Amino acid sequence: GTSGKFWIGGNWKSNGTAESVSKLVDELNSGTVPSNTEVIVSPTFLQIPYVSQNLDQTKFAVSAQNCWVEGYGAYTGEISAEALADAGLNWVILGHSERRALNEESNELVADKTKKALDTGLSVIACIGETLEQRESGEMFNVLDAQLAAIADKVSDWSKIVVAYEPVWAIGTGVVATPDQAQEVHAYLRKWFADKVSADVSKSIRVVYGGSVNAENCAELATKEDVDGFLVGGASLKGPDFLVIANAFE
Ligand code: G3P
Repeated sequence: GTSGKFWIGGNWKSNGTAESVSKLVDELNSGTVPSNTEVIVSPTFLQIPYVSQNLDQTKFAVSAQNCWVEGYGAYTGEISAEALADAGLNWVILGHSERRALNEESNELVADKTKKALDTGLSVIACIGETLEQRESGEMFNVLDAQLAAIADKVSDWSKIVVAYEPVWAIGTGVVATPDQAQEVHAYLRKWFADKVSADVSKSIRVVYGGSVNAENCAELATKEDVDGFLVGGASLKGPDFLVIANAFE
């Protein structure tokens, strides 16, 4: 990593019962995280109050997995960035590939949500990534460019954004990107920021990798120069495994 401050997130997705979340919180509280790494966990909206009240927030921060693009109002079933801030949250994941695919979130909507969240004072984990088909047809860099450019059109201050590179083919598949594959894309993204935004942002922005990261493969990925952390799905549901990953950059 070039920023010197690493970042690890656990995306619990739509998982967890009251019982399993209580166990996971206890396991996490019993662990340690290094001072060079920011660690966040992202439960479902329903579990956020319990986790916020019971997780040791001297070690971990809590994030939402989504927010709505507008504020408070007549948006049945949605939760606004303002409501997240009101609940004491500092982070929101936006543009996850599952939302892009299953909820048809466009690059523009993800960018508008990112702007709204930043304007509300939240930090954003902005997720981007290509499908296998896009990678194999040579479209990968164009896809990543378009995903980032949409955000860059709406946002000028990148200081509260972490970029998560999550190749769709690696998410939940057990097929992790090789360290060289991750490094190739992360270096590309850093150059994109140098060319399109600024040298300072290119150096300071944290670009984290997501997709089948686990307690066994995290150490080798962490050796790569432009990998500043991980966004973890399945392995973040196991306390001991997530703690190993949270300590990968120590
Ligand atoms: O957001 C994290 C994620 O999509 C990766 O999931 O289960 O492959 O670690 P997983």
